[in-house]
Order: sequence, then C-alpha cells, then structure tokens
Amino acid sequence: MGTWILVAAVAMLASVWPATAAESGAPQKGLVATVNPVATEAGLQALRDGGNAVDAAIACALTLGVVDGHNSGIGGGCFMTLRLADGRILTLDGREMAPAAATRDMFLRDGKADPRLSQDGALSVGIPGQMATLAFASTHHGRLPLGRLLEAAARVAEQGFALDRHYVGRLRETRSQLALFPESAAIFLRGLPETPSAGDRLRQPDLAASYRQMAAQGVDWFYRGEFARKTEAWMKAHGGAVTASDFARYEVVPREPVRGTYRGYEIVSFPPPSSGGVHVVQILNLLERFDVAALGDGSIEFVHVVAEAMKLAFADRARWLGDPDFAKVPRGLLSKDYAAGLARSLRMDRASAVPSAGLPPGADRDWFTRERNRHTTHFSTADTEGNWVACTASLNTSFGSKVVVPGTGILLNNHMDDFSAQPGVPNFFGLVGAEANAIEARKRPLSSMSPTLVLKDGRPILSVGAAGGPTIISQTLLAILRTIDFGKAPREALAAPRLHHQWKPDELHVEKAWGPAVIEGLRRRGHTVVVDASLGAAQAVGRDAAGRWSASADPRGEGSSGVW
Ligand code: DON
Repeated sequence: MGTWILVAAVAMLASVWPATAAESGAPQKGLVATVNPVATEAGLQALRDGGNAVDAAIACALTLGVVDGHNSGIGGGCFMTLRLADGRILTLDGREMAPAAATRDMFLRDGKADPRLSQDGALSVGIPGQMATLAFASTHHGRLPLGRLLEAAARVAEQGFALDRHYVGRLRETRSQLALFPESAAIFLRGLPETPSAGDRLRQPDLAASYRQMAAQGVDWFYRGEFARKTEAWMKAHGGAVTASDFARYEVVPREPVRGTYRGYEIVSFPPPSSGGVHVVQILNLLERFDVAALGDGSIEFVHVVAEAMKLAFADRARWLGDPDFAKVPRGLLSKDYAAGLARSLRMDRASAVPSAGLPPGADRDWFTRERNRHTTHFSTADTEGNWVACTASLNTSFGSKVVVPGTGILLNNHMDDFSAQPGVPNFFGLVGAEANAIEARKRPLSSMSPTLVLKDGRPILSVGAAGGPTIISQTLLAILRTIDFGKAPREALAAPRLHHQWKPDELHVEKAWGPAVIEGLRRRGHTVVVDASLGAAQAVGRDAAGRWSASADPRGEGSSGVW
C-alpha cells in the first residue's frame, strides 16, 4: 500500500521530490497555489506581511477576481474549507442564493427550459456570497485587516495586469455575449485591442474603486449599500429578479463538514449544497473495497473501477442532492455499508449499466418519485502554524452572466444555471437533476465544488480542489487516490492522467495521456470512451509523513505555487 511514508523513504534514495525548488521546501511561513502567478504572489505577500493561511487565501481570492475575473470574483460565490491551528475544521458556505422572486419554472418558455435565460443576463444571476465569506473568514480567523488586502488587490486592478493565453481564449469564446452588455463590452472588449493577445494589459479602475469602497466602508457597501442598490436598479431595468433586499438578507452559512475515511486517512470536505464532499467520500468508500494500489495507476483496471464507481455516485447525485435547507439529502450516502452494497454490483470485466440512483439508508422512498472547461478556480494555502485552507470560487461559466453592474466593474455570476431548470433536462455541464435541485426562492443551487482536506492522525497532509464543473469531483478524488494509494506528492498527483464519468451521458472521459492501449482496453470492456486533450484544473498543497511541504498548481495550466 503506497503512502507518503513509503514515498518519503523512496524519495530519499532517489531524491525524487518532483516539485521545483520554488514549490517545495521548508517554508518560513506558508505555501500558496493558485491558477495565476499574480494571485499566488498576493497570497505570499500576505504571509510576508504577517498574515496567516486564511489571510493568504483571502488575498488570493480578491486578486483572482481581478486577474482571473472570468472564472471567479466577488460577484460570484465560493466554498471555503478551513483547518485552524487549534485543530478545528470549518466549512463556510458562500454559495449564491436564488432571489426571493425566483420560481420553479422561471426558465421555461412554452414548457421547455431555455438555457439562454439561465446562462446569460439578468435572470441567470444568484445573490453573490464570496465577499460575505471572505469577510467572515477575515473577521474570525484572519490576522490582517481586510481593508489592507482589498487595497492591495485594488492596486492590481488599477495598474492592470498582462493577460495570459487562457484569458485571451475566454475573451474570444465569450466576445459575442459580452458585446450584448454595454458595461461589460466597455471593460473587456473596448478596454483591450480588438484582437487581444497574451501580454496585453487590462485595467479595471471601476473594480479598483469598488474594492476601495469596501476597504473604507466594510462589506455593507456590497450587501446593504450602494452596490446592492445599483444592482437592483439594473435588474429592474432589464427584467431581472434580484433586489437590494435579497442582498441584505444574504448570509454566509457555517456548515458541518462532510467527514469520511479512506484506508486510515481522514477526508474532510464540503457538504451540501455541494455534492462534492458527499461523492468524493462515497466513491472512496466504494473504492476501499478494491485493492486500488495493486491495480497500478496506469492500468485499464484502475480506470475501469474508478469510472464504474463514479457512475454509481453520479446517479445518486442526480437524484438525492440539493440544498439541505430545502431537500432531504440522505446521510446514508456516506455509509460504508451502503457503498459495500453498491460495490457488489460493480463488475471488473465489463462496464455495467446503471439504470437509476441507489437507495441509501435514510432516504425517503416517497419523497419524489458538454463542454468541460475550467470556468472556476481553486486555490490552496497552508501555514506553519497549522492553518490550512482549501477554497473553490466561481462565477459559473466564463464571465458568468456577462453582466457588469454599471459603474462598479463587478461581474455577476450565472449560477442559477446550476439548478435543475426542469427534471431530466441537462444544464450547461450536461448534469441532470430532480426535485432536490429544483429552483425555489432563497435556495442555493447544487454545486460540485469540493475544497477538501486530507488528514492523517489529525495532522493535515493535503489541501486540494479543482475547477471544471462535475469533473471537480473526479479530479479531487483522483488527487486523493494518487496521494494515498500511489504515494504521490502534489505535483505528480495532479500531473497524472485523469478520467471522468458522470452517469449521464453514459460516456467515460479520459485524457489522451492514458495512451492507446488503456483507451482500447476500456472500449473492449464496453465503455463509451471520449478522449479529451486535458481535463480540469486542480491546485494542491501538501505535507508528507517526513514533514516536507510541497505546493503545486495544475501542470496543465499557467498557475503557480510558492513558498515563503
Ligand atoms: O458549482 C459548480 O459545480 C459549478 N458551477 C462550477 C463551475 C465550474 O467549475 C466551471 N468550470 N468548468
């Protein structure tokens, strides 16, 4: 059984700790990994300024909202998993909330769900939760004043930053939708050359001014002040449902974390309204029934068994998961016995059909009878005091609703699309849902975001999470398997080839890097295999059994990690 203990011994012989010097080593204060070097630097600066891992995470989030604003920002939401130096574990739910005027059928036209309504413009917007979450984390667990972190990020917005090639790609893909909203077009289209390229500078003075307003007035500016009023005015003029009173009633919810175990390690992850933690733990429970390490990471058998387990879990996701304040999400999904029962239906010699969800303990029988890009962001931080953070933040798809509230520079999310607009009708990510995730006033849409911590004997060894819609669950799961079963350090764990199965559509997505032999072998076993060049974007920070630290951004992207 591969563990970091074994790896540490092997690594000493072969001296293979695969991360670069910039990413591993003995930190004076802590480590940071994000998808963007400017944001990573902001996190490290917070550590240098005397902040802890929580301050570093807040600095990363605020700066990502500037330099990676198509993915996340204060107009969106986030989930934050924290392990504090005193051993407490917290999960802060900053997910968007449906406005009070939202109705179950708000996206139906002539009886059919219209994805344009849930994906672009006024109706697609949920009440943002990221700023409330950052303020909560800062007040209760940070050390630096929030205003100082806002001011630092405002300077980046004001001075501008050089676009990377991902940003340029997103602009190209989203150009025509951004052009529909004059305020967004002024910033993201006219603020740049007509055909932008990597290296062009984007300045966002309005966003800088908004950050400074909050540095001066606190987050009430956002939830109870000028920003809420301006948003309501824009919504009224454009057929939206969001009001200033929705903003005033928004609250970050501290929730009870999902806890599981895998081969003696403790897994702590995000509870509903995320499906992430529940299904990462459920799939690990299923896989614990198999000798995964003996199958070998590059093998057909490994991909097959993981894919079959994913299929079973995603069938349950579609049926049982939703905002727990509205839907009864059975805790039995986390039970080892339930997983053992499901595992009995899993055959190693061929892909099995999964016709429907299972019936986990505690379920109420009568309760209710495409593209995979990286439009979200995950970042991880840790410090030598013992604070660890895993945070995933999102506007949902690229540039969210594409709406910037006039005069504020703040882009709003389109997370209303994560609800199930109609039973069985897939959303942007091809995910289907049912009653549990139907739209209701003030309900939070189901998510896959999975900011997760792994602990051994109470000591954190990994902070991990990902972007990429439902593949977030698969990426997080695979990073954990690669750490625990195959003894890999973060960079290797993230570099290894990925797979994803979400039950519907019945397709097994695999990265090309698995190679033709594995791909053909899976087809022979009856899987409908779709080969993707690259799947997702995950970031991680880790500490092995020998006490060595390491951080890594996804080697597929342009992110960075650092130690201070
Ligand atoms: O919360 C969720 O699961 C999604 N809205 C996350 C979106 C995402 O990862 C976009 N990336 N492809």
